[in-house]
Amino acid sequence: MEITLSVIKADVGGYVGHSSCHPDVLQKAKESLERAKGKGLLIDYHVMACGDDLQLIMTHQKGEDNEEIHKLAWDTFVDCTNIAKRLKLHGAGQDLLADAFSGNVRAMGPGVAEMYFTERESETIVIFMADKTASGAWNLPLYKIFADPFNTIGLVIAPNMHSGFTFEVHDVTGKKKIMFNAPEEIYDMLVFIGSPHRYAVKAVYHKESGEIAASSSTQHLALIAGRYVGKDDPVCIVRAQGKFPAVGEILEPFASPNIVKGWMRGSHHGPLMSVSFCQARATRFDGPPRVIAAGFQLANGKFVGPNDLFDDPAFDLARQQANEIANFLRRLGPFEPHRLPLDEMEYTTMPEIAKKLAPRFKDM
Ligand code: 13P
Ligand code: 13P
Ligand code: MG
Ligand code: MG
Repeated sequence: MEITLSVIKADVGGYVGHSSCHPDVLQKAKESLERAKGKGLLIDYHVMACGDDLQLIMTHQKGEDNEEIHKLAWDTFVDCTNIAKRLKLHGAGQDLLADAFSGNVRAMGPGVAEMYFTERESETIVIFMADKTASGAWNLPLYKIFADPFNTIGLVIAPNMHSGFTFEVHDVTGKKKIMFNAPEEIYDMLVFIGSPHRYAVKAVYHKESGEIAASSSTQHLALIAGRYVGKDDPVCIVRAQGKFPAVGEILEPFASPNIVKGWMRGSHHGPLMSVSFCQARATRFDGPPRVIAAGFQLANGKFVGPNDLFDDPAFDLARQQANEIANFLRRLGPFEPHRLPLDEMEYTTMPEIAKKLAPRFKDM
């Protein structure tokens, strides 16, 4: 059976502040997607939140970038924004950067990860969702999952993975893309994906079969809006088992915290903490950044799940280490490298302050 899995997300208003999503907003989204399922537009859906970001997880047979599906997501976000406005939630409609829908939500604020595939005998899927961080946050884990044999032993011992994977990397500012084969070209690839602010892994393919293995959202809100409007809070879909890495290989990079951009006012480096669904509430200094992992089996396009994959004491140490890193970085206060470097603060108040003080800077 041919399936398209679409994960489309937006921050339509925070409860309280930027910490989480209000239950009425989630309820509204469920009603909207239930209607679409009743009409046959969706095969199935699952609505959830990661922090203040509302996640629409949908299966259908319309393909990627489909106007009807994108309009459904947009209209759902608009309806949810109306609830958020009524409750006067914080930043109601924050990520809806356009006045009206125009064909595709990709350049309109919401984050989008989609993949089209033939459902396998057993189709295991892991969906990662992050809050308080930027697109590009998946570069390091995707590299480890699909190119690092110290993370993924299947690359060494599973004959159907041994030939490796192909990475589709997007230059998000230069609007270009390039394909890299792993393991042959990992040194070339790392030059670029080691800079996740500019280069983001958009997708990964099984090299031999060309089948899609992973797909992530790479929208940069600040680039779309031209000013700071909140963080991208990206999502990533990964297929597991069989010719793809095992669930445990997919989760393994999250056993030690990565350092990402985001956190308070989207202007700080902080540890990405792997948490259970109920712990995805960014509170301390509006963070630290969070990631959750929702595991599903697909049965003829229907979601069996989710299984809350980081709800496991095996990730306690990662959380402990993330807290230690958070404490350490917080001590730096407004100093780099806790605060982002100046050239990445261009969408905050920095340009205004620099302009105001320009006459006071004397040549020397
Ligand atoms: P099971 O024997 O539990 O199916 O596990 C096999 C496996 O490959 C785990 O990674
Ligand atoms: P969000 O991008 O999650 O809305 O966070 C914005 C922010 O400024 C947090 O301090
Ligand atoms: Mg918010
Ligand atoms: Mg958010």
